[in-house]
Amino acid sequence: MRSASRVALFGALLVTLCLLRSAGGSAGVDFRASNYSFPDDFIFGVSTAAFQIEGAWNEGGKGESMWDTYLHKNPQFTPDRSNGDVAADSYHKYMEDIQMIQKLGVKYYRMSISWPRLLPNGTDNNISREGAMYYRTLFEELLKVNITPIVTLFHWDMPTALMDLGGWTNPKVMDYFEDYARVAFNLYGDIIKTWTTLNEPHQHCYNGYGLDYFVPALMSHGVGEYLCTHYLLLSHARVYRMYEKEFRPYQKGKVGITLDAFWAKPRDANKAEDVLAANAYLHMHLDIYAHPIFSDVGDYPTFVRERVNNMSLEQGFSRSRLPYFTDEEILAIKGSADFFGLNHYTTFIMSPSSMEPKWNVPSLDHDTGVKVDQNLTWPRPGPEWLTVYPPGFRQLLNYVQDNYRMLRDIPILITENGMADLGQTEDYERVAYFNDYLHQVLLAIHEDGVNVKGYFAWTLMDDFEWSDGYTFKFGLYKVDFDSPEKTRTPKLSAKNYANIVRTRRIDFNYIKPPIIRPFQFNYL
Ligand SMILES: *[C@@H]1O[C@H](CO)[C@@H](O)[C@H](O)[C@H]1NC(C)=O
Ligand SMILES: *[C@@H]1O[C@H](CO)[C@@H](O)[C@H](O)[C@H]1NC(C)=O
Ligand SMILES: *[C@@H]1O[C@H](CO)[C@@H](O)[C@H](O)[C@H]1NC(C)=O
Ligand SMILES: *[C@@H]1O[C@H](CO)[C@@H](O)[C@H](O)[C@H]1NC(C)=O
Ligand SMILES: *[C@@H]1O[C@H](CO)[C@@H](O)[C@H](O)[C@H]1NC(C)=O
Repeated sequence: MRSASRVALFGALLVTLCLLRSAGGSAGVDFRASNYSFPDDFIFGVSTAAFQIEGAWNEGGKGESMWDTYLHKNPQFTPDRSNGDVAADSYHKYMEDIQMIQKLGVKYYRMSISWPRLLPNGTDNNISREGAMYYRTLFEELLKVNITPIVTLFHWDMPTALMDLGGWTNPKVMDYFEDYARVAFNLYGDIIKTWTTLNEPHQHCYNGYGLDYFVPALMSHGVGEYLCTHYLLLSHARVYRMYEKEFRPYQKGKVGITLDAFWAKPRDANKAEDVLAANAYLHMHLDIYAHPIFSDVGDYPTFVRERVNNMSLEQGFSRSRLPYFTDEEILAIKGSADFFGLNHYTTFIMSPSSMEPKWNVPSLDHDTGVKVDQNLTWPRPGPEWLTVYPPGFRQLLNYVQDNYRMLRDIPILITENGMADLGQTEDYERVAYFNDYLHQVLLAIHEDGVNVKGYFAWTLMDDFEWSDGYTFKFGLYKVDFDSPEKTRTPKLSAKNYANIVRTRRIDFNYIKPPIIRPFQFNYL
């Protein structure tokens, strides 16, 4: 999950307003399509990430991740001055987590390995026995109850020892990532058959290297953010090719990547410049990662290459701020995924702009040249960045498949989708969000023929939400962070999701909201 900015807690008012909007079931909604069901081979799961739930930051021989180190030094980074030291304490409470997953009825659990829990120094000369045991036990316990773990190698928790060397801006870190992946494949590849290399490289590079919304908060806008992009793409391909050569012949698993995308809606669909702006946004934020991997030709999209080259030249750089791949690298990256993992949360409104007050120069924002707005008539139940606009999901799924032909042969897996609020267990807004967004997935499958084969709800339980700390909650289960036991309680959305998983349909009337939606918002 990401969050675009650190916002004050204005959520109480919003939640009140949004509760009024309420869940589905009001007049004017076209229910025909709710008769579609999820195909037999469609998989349902739920997602988490190590740093957001595990806690136990210094237990079991774990080394520090850059998030541990940074948050200890800069407690003001989160509005509630919180960190991931304890989080939901999943390091100790994983058996309870497994029971919660079972109750949802899903058969898949997307989770991540903490690199510094397995390799305290980031390097493979020092494998933590306890770290290795922890994940082995967790995987085995999941499999015992028929839940298949899908494992992410890098969900943002870079070992501090390697961040100190420049993190993803240091090309040698690719070697250490490859070594880490090899350790993981050796330890777990006999039972783990689906891996993702990276989670949301775009959010990581843009907000962490280009800005200071995420750790490492480098503010290396326009330079470091592209180095991060470049070496992450190469690191991903290195691991994919290494698995292909050394492990696939006998482990026979799949390796993919998870990209994130907001949908980009032109301010006025009849104005060519707004449509171009929306396309520019998608090229610079999504296609910059997707095109090198999933297109027939590989490499960065022509638009991205030209734009960053043009801007760099104008700005007096003697080289493009976007590094070049060699021909060999282009080939290694092209086709380096067995599935397209997609995380999606919201939609923004696009129009052209050459400069905005909050942009840095140079930067990805400035290079993109697109003003990004919200439509404030859409519900906004939690953090400032997350408005609810379900049709954007269907359009995004279509965009992704239309632009990348190989997606007719390899599937799209929705690896995250969800909504934040203040954590109430009667979470009618979240029930409506999942109903409406999953409904768009059904339309994409049945009416548009998009090859979507799975859906993972974000997230199993309330967690540490990066720069929002614990101020906003995404969980299907509530976690009482004030209790020493970190007590977990199912929310209404857990019951609703379990019903969707069980029936493979969406019943908009399964959970009845207490108040009728006061205004018509028919986005089905
Ligand atoms: C959808 O299901 C309802 C209830 O079973 C039924 O009344 C309606 O005709 C169905 N719609 C379509 C388009 O099949
Ligand atoms: C390996 O990691 C452990 C646990 O963090 C640490 O105590 C030890 O010094 C490390 N060993 C080496 C050789 O770096
Ligand atoms: C390895 O990590 C441990 C634990 O963080 C630390 O105590 C030790 O100094 C590190 N060793 C090296 C060689 O960096
Ligand atoms: C904002 O949302 C309202 C309500 O759905 C819609 O009528 C309007 O066209 C939207 N504006 C933009 C710019 O998308
Ligand atoms: C880059 O500059 C060239 C020459 O001015 C221009 O033709 C091209 O459209 C520009 N490309 C982009 C993506 O801005």
